[in-house]
Amino acid sequence: MHYLEKLFSLENKVAVVIGGTGELCSHMAGGLAKAGATVVLVGRNAEKAQTRIDQIGGNAHFIAADISTRESIDKLLADVLKEFGKVDILVNGAGINSPTPVLDISTEEFNNIINVNLTATLVACQVFAKYWLEKDAEGSIINLGSISGLNPLSRVFSYSASKAAVHNLSKNLAREWANQKIRVNTLVPGFFPAEQNKSVLDESRIATIMGHTPMDRFGNPDELIGATILLASSTAGGFITGHEMIVDGGFNSMSI
Ligand SMILES: NC(=O)c1ccc[n+]([C@@H]2O[C@H](COP(=O)([O-])OP(=O)(O)OC[C@H]3O[C@@H](n4cnc5c(N)ncnc54)[C@H](O)[C@@H]3O)[C@@H](O)[C@H]2O)c1
Repeated sequence: MHYLEKLFSLENKVAVVIGGTGELCSHMAGGLAKAGATVVLVGRNAEKAQTRIDQIGGNAHFIAADISTRESIDKLLADVLKEFGKVDILVNGAGINSPTPVLDISTEEFNNIINVNLTATLVACQVFAKYWLEKDAEGSIINLGSISGLNPLSRVFSYSASKAAVHNLSKNLAREWANQKIRVNTLVPGFFPAEQNKSVLDESRIATIMGHTPMDRFGNPDELIGATILLASSTAGGFITGHEMIVDGGFNSMSI
């Protein structure tokens, strides 16, 4: 194996990608698989999963789960261990969004977004970390944050609040488990067209986004792969924990 291959190889690793049936995480999962990992896509839709598995082209599997309850995440870990024997990498990428104007956001809608984006991330981190801690094994967690978690983004109030909390939580967990072989990082995408943000991306908003993105374009989901492999790899990324890895075409570097 060449030096670079060794540095970034995920050979013999098992990666669980929650939200892996979605746009960004399916591409990230594809990258993990190409780096040698066995990837497990987690989502609610088997048909969508099969399309993603076909796109990935090998080393990819599907386990159905709605991750909005603790029981389903406990069951997910049990299913993964039964089928694959272990897990090394966890990606928390399930996400939902809503463009509801701030005064109209119901408590129910707010709680639902917080539950999927934040609470499920916490619970998955707890469940998988407990498994690693009990086995004294290495683990790498990649939580999906957002540039709206760094600075508030108009029109997505609940989403921004949930992602800001994911950023904070990820650093706190990184600190908590740093001496126990578990690394926790946040991958922070800028703007990538996907299912969950379709309703927010009208023509005038796209123009505003481009005006604020120095690279003047949307990201391509494959452009998250390098960052994902770096954070997942315990050789290349072994000393990286508590990091916010921003992949945004310069959006967060721009003021006026
Ligand atoms: N697309 C972007 O520009 C962008 C920017 C910043 C952050 N993100 C984050 O990246 C992650 C992936 O988003 P995406 O843009 O690919 O969106 P997406 O809608 O394509 O993918 C999200 C996935 O999460 C799944 N999901 C939602 N609720 C679930 C539940 N209860 N149980 C199981 N699965 C559930 C959806 O079915 C979907 O497959 C999300 O956390 C999102 O917030 C996306």
